[in-house]
Amino acid sequence: MKIFLDTAEIDEIRSAARWGVLDGVTTNPSLFAKVGGSYDDVLRQICQITPGPVSAEVVAEDVEGMLREGRHFAQLAPNIVVKVAMSEDGLEAIARFTSEGIKTNCTLIFSSNQGLLAARAGASLLSPFVGRLDDINEDGMDVVRELVAMVRTHGLATEVLAASIRHPRHMTMAALAGAHIATVPHRILRQMIHHPLTTSGIVQFRKDWESVRNAGESTQRKGNANAGTRTPLSAPHSRAR
Ligand code: E4P
Repeated sequence: MKIFLDTAEIDEIRSAARWGVLDGVTTNPSLFAKVGGSYDDVLRQICQITPGPVSAEVVAEDVEGMLREGRHFAQLAPNIVVKVAMSEDGLEAIARFTSEGIKTNCTLIFSSNQGLLAARAGASLLSPFVGRLDDINEDGMDVVRELVAMVRTHGLATEVLAASIRHPRHMTMAALAGAHIATVPHRILRQMIHHPLTTSGIVQFRKDWESVRNAGESTQRKGNANAGTRTPLSAPHSRAR
């Protein structure tokens, strides 16, 4: 499963890239609102950091508006994927973008039927929102599982991108469900790295290493000291020669 970062924060994206685990980035208007500035500039910077797909979301609700915004994003960098919300107009925009060779990510998917339609319209990524479904007492991972099965069964030319990830267990479940991609907030990516037993294990290894090293140094010191006391004995002998 590929890992995308779900953020518009440049520093977060840089650190995931340094860790070697960044396959792409998803942004949305809420994530962009947290950083502010110019969306175009932020997108350009992100596209320079990662060669993987970078989702840029349109906010227009009519087809022509979506096409205008999406075409604009698509010319910012070759790895831009235009993110379009599921709707009747959204499907039409996805179909039009597809015929123009512009890749799309259909977002705000809450049922596998929505995902099936988006795939038929030509979306290259399908984003089921796992956490938001869990929030309303449904099992968001069911939609991921169903979509993965549909894609496999019918050989659909699209990828399932588990979105709205709320905790590390969602990442495990998405991978086991066969999601092609999961997009993860930086905070959760860090949670995935750390484990209390890893932390205590590192402390213990360091402690044991230092105790052996200290013991070795003290043995060597004693040895040197003994060698030092022998020196006067051998010195007269050499003088006698
Ligand atoms: C990513 O493409 C989605 O926009 C994002 O994962 C939504 O996450 P949220 O439900 O935590 O806002």
